[in-house]
Amino acid sequence: MRAKRTSLVHIIYFSRLNLSSDPQLRAGQIADIGRQAQKKNEFSVITSLLMVDQGFAAQIIEGERNSVQDTFNRIAEDQRHRDVQICEWREITKREFVNSFKSVVRGPASEAAFSKANLLPALQRGTPKASSIHGLAVALQAEAMSKQGIDHLFV
Ligand SMILES: Cc1cc2nc3c(=O)[nH]c(=O)nc-3n(C[C@H](O)[C@H](O)[C@H](O)COP(=O)(O)O)c2cc1C
Repeated sequence: MRAKRTSLVHIIYFSRLNLSSDPQLRAGQIADIGRQAQKKNEFSVITSLLMVDQGFAAQIIEGERNSVQDTFNRIAEDQRHRDVQICEWREITKREFVNSFKSVVRGPASEAAFSKANLLPALQRGTPKASSIHGLAVALQAEAMSKQGIDHLFV
C-alpha cells in the first residue's frame, strides 16, 4: 500500500500592488519578488503561479498545509501589496502547477488569456471568483508549457 501523503492545500488570493508606475522599475520589483519567492518556495516545496493584471496581483500557492500557511502569512505582511484577500483555501488531491514560482504579467504575450478571463473588472470591484483566477492560471501555464513543447504532458 502506498504511504498516505501529507495533506495538500491551495490558497488563491488577490491583492493591490504597491509597485512603481514606471514600467522598468516595476519589472525590477517583480523580478525581486520572484527571486525571493523562488528560493523560499523551493525550500518549502511550494508550487505557485502569480498573475499581475495592471495594479492587481492574484496568486495560487499549493503545497503541504503548514508550508502554505507559513508562506501565505509572510506574503500577507509584505508591504509591496495591500488589501490581501483570500478567495479560496482548501484541500486538493494533487498539485496543478509545476513551478516553484512563476509570474505572468499582463502584456502582449499574455493578452489573449487575460482578456478571455476578463478578471480585471472583478479585481477592481474586489469580487473575483476563485474559479476565474484558477482558470486563468491554468490557461497561462498551459500556454507556457506549449511554448516549451511539453503540452502533451498536460492534456
Ligand atoms: C505579490 C507577492 C507574491 C509573493 N509570493 C511569494 C511566494 O510565493 N513565496 C514566498 O516565499 N514569498 C513570496 N513573496 C515575498 C514574501 O512576501 C517575502 O518578502 C519573502 O518570502 C521573504 O520573506 P522574509 O523577508 O521574511 O525572508 C511574495 C510577495 C509579493 C508582494
